[in-house]
Amino acid sequence: MESKSIALDGPAGAGKSTLAKKAAKHFGLIYVDTGALYRCVGLYAILKKAASVDSLAIASLLPKIEIEMKYDEHGTQHMFLCGADVTEDIRLPEVSKFASDVSAMPPVREFLLSTQRDMAVKYDVIMDGRDIGTVVLPNAGLKIFITADEKTRAKRRYDELIEKGIETTFFEVLNDMKIRDKNDSERAIAPLKISDDAVLLDTTQLDFEQSFEALCKLIGNRLELEMV
Ligand code: DC
Repeated sequence: MESKSIALDGPAGAGKSTLAKKAAKHFGLIYVDTGALYRCVGLYAILKKAASVDSLAIASLLPKIEIEMKYDEHGTQHMFLCGADVTEDIRLPEVSKFASDVSAMPPVREFLLSTQRDMAVKYDVIMDGRDIGTVVLPNAGLKIFITADEKTRAKRRYDELIEKGIETTFFEVLNDMKIRDKNDSERAIAPLKISDDAVLLDTTQLDFEQSFEALCKLIGNRLELEMV
């Protein structure tokens, strides 16, 4: 039911997904990472050699795209694109850029909307993205906008990529993030912005545990959910 759902929006690298995953376990919710859906469309465009900004080509690919979200026994979301498990592939930096470009296209957003809303009908979710509180789940029981300053977010994303063995530099990550933030916040449709009824959580000065504690307080207070 949407009123029991939590919408978590914010820019890239704000820590949404790691925090939301842990909070989902803590409160017995299903964690839905909606960026993964846009990443699947981006990856499909790459595989079909479409340019990320060619909206006609991308729109023509949509009817062929089959995306499935599946959950393993640990509650971890796995993404399947036309039957193939692409959970790892969609995290590559090249896919991030494509995902951001295709996410500005109205047919792509329309294509992915019902998948996201269906999840909130079936389960009590904590859903992260850019437009969850503003567009996807306008009646969510709690809306949180998580952010941190640009350099802090870039450093977190850089550490994550290095840990995964992906070669990059801090400045490359910072630059990609600046471009993505600009794309995501300035696009005409469903731009990244704080919803009027959202609570702002700035994690610049907080480490992971402190951020998690702050998030749990917000969720616990508002929803009065039982810990599992
Ligand atoms: O959360 P992420 O970095 O995995 O998202 C990848 C891209 O998808 C991001 O640049 C913007 C887009 N996106 C979006 O437009 N709306 C969402 N609800 C989630 C992601």
